[in-house]
Amino acid sequence: MRRKILVGVAWPYVNGEPHLGHIAGMNMSADIFARFHRISGNDVVMVSGSDMHGTPTALKAIDENTTPEKIATKYHKIWEQALNDMGFSYDLYTNTHTQEHQDVVHDIFLKLEKKDLLYEQTQSMPFSEKEKLFLSDRFVYGECPYCDENKARGDQCEKCGKTLDPIDLKNIKSIRDNSTPVFKETTHKFIKLSFFEEKLRSWIESRSDWRQNVVNQSLGMIKEGLHDRAITRDIEWGIPVPVSDEKYSSKSIYVWFEAVIGYLSATKSWAKKQGDKNLWKKWWIDPDGETYYFQGKDNIPFHTIIWPAILLGYEELNLPTDVVANEYLNLGGLDFSKSKGHAVWVREFLKSYESEPLRYYLTKIMPETSDSEFTWKGFVESNNNELVATLGNFVHRIFNIINKNYDGIIPDPQSIEKEDEKILDQCKKTLIDISSCIDSRKFRNALNHLMQLARDGNKYIDKKEPWKMVKIDKKLSSTSLWVGCNIISALRTAMYPFLPKTSDKIHNMIFDDSDTLRDGWSVREIPPETKLKNVKTLFIKLDESVIDFENGKFKD
Ligand code: MF3
Ligand code: ZN
Repeated sequence: MRRKILVGVAWPYVNGEPHLGHIAGMNMSADIFARFHRISGNDVVMVSGSDMHGTPTALKAIDENTTPEKIATKYHKIWEQALNDMGFSYDLYTNTHTQEHQDVVHDIFLKLEKKDLLYEQTQSMPFSEKEKLFLSDRFVYGECPYCDENKARGDQCEKCGKTLDPIDLKNIKSIRDNSTPVFKETTHKFIKLSFFEEKLRSWIESRSDWRQNVVNQSLGMIKEGLHDRAITRDIEWGIPVPVSDEKYSSKSIYVWFEAVIGYLSATKSWAKKQGDKNLWKKWWIDPDGETYYFQGKDNIPFHTIIWPAILLGYEELNLPTDVVANEYLNLGGLDFSKSKGHAVWVREFLKSYESEPLRYYLTKIMPETSDSEFTWKGFVESNNNELVATLGNFVHRIFNIINKNYDGIIPDPQSIEKEDEKILDQCKKTLIDISSCIDSRKFRNALNHLMQLARDGNKYIDKKEPWKMVKIDKKLSSTSLWVGCNIISALRTAMYPFLPKTSDKIHNMIFDDSDTLRDGWSVREIPPETKLKNVKTLFIKLDESVIDFENGKFKD
């Protein structure tokens, strides 16, 4: 049975460009998952887009003396290009500043309002007397009421992950000039989060296969009691509030309320582009539709509490099957954060290196269960010792012998012995192991199985020594070379979720029909008389001398 799998990737703010922390935090795992399910024959749709609105973009526009729309558009394009250059297989990467998104947000807002799940209330919000503006969310910072962080933002504490309202902050300051704002009354629409507390608790408690960090953080927040939250803001850059009341004319919908709706609106937009506007229902309404959300840990409460509350309120839409959150990728001990200007930028990186070794390294060190560290040394070593010396070398040594001694035609096997059978069985088993790892969102383990097959393939060939045997009698080396090519064929499939470009390169060296994706998740046997084509180097060795190992940087 074909499964219906929606892969949602968190929507990045467009107040800066992507860095490696984003990629390791969400895009890489989402893409592995999506590619794996596509090649397994399931119906996958992978969506995301740029989170255009809210204070992050508004602040950046002030810094750069331009409009939020210009900033958002500029960085949206940069994100779109970088994600494409990384080989991420989005079915749609859109943004939240589209008419279609606004329509879906308004539909949801109005339905919740009709069902009495929204109400109006006057609230005290920080206001800058000097600038004559309300300072919400990221415009203010202060001490977190839950932990010892003294630079928590008005919307969320980065340290403990709790969602906040500015009123919760102690010693609140404006991020703009460090002045202390006054609190002034303003009227907003609120969502009755408290109404969903019990439903959310029992739903999360029933999730047996979620990661511990996600379950713990979410239940922790519910335990402290869910407070109703304002879902409108005094900010002009955003989605208009769909009520005729004059006082909402200068307000917008809270960015987090509308951005999460992007998963649904993007699926609807994608469906329209496919020429079947009802197609989205397959993932969102059909009871067997599965929805997976990939993100960094600071996004957890928005995907396990706010978004499910909206879905429960709206009714009939599927709740998340899993919320897959990674921890942070650190660089020299600090987390990657574009706002702190401490990062390795994807765009810069790809000017000097290929995307594939980066995909490999970031999967290898993916911060799945705890923070992990990016180092240049680690990157170069994983490229040189694993991709070049283990994976690439295995393919090249076999193909080279065949090119030199058999005119590039893969020889038919003579007789298959126990040892040959063993490694051929391992090929099949590797695909099964990778499959169960990826399907249970354990990406590092999945990658280990791939590399284990490459290592064992090398061992097998070392033992068989076809380069020696071929000199004695071509028949003596034909079986091991044929088996070797079958291992390569299996590796080609196994690496598709992680290293799609390399996988396709290998495919094109062996087969002249189809492609890796269409061949599906199984070992395609080498047919008789197969002629190798266009054998080229898969990975390039990086010169270690360019790295300043002491400081972990590249020398200029
Ligand atoms: N823009 C947010 C961030 O960068 C993530 C939004 S995810 C969404 O942290 F689901 F709300 F869209
Ligand atoms: Zn905190």
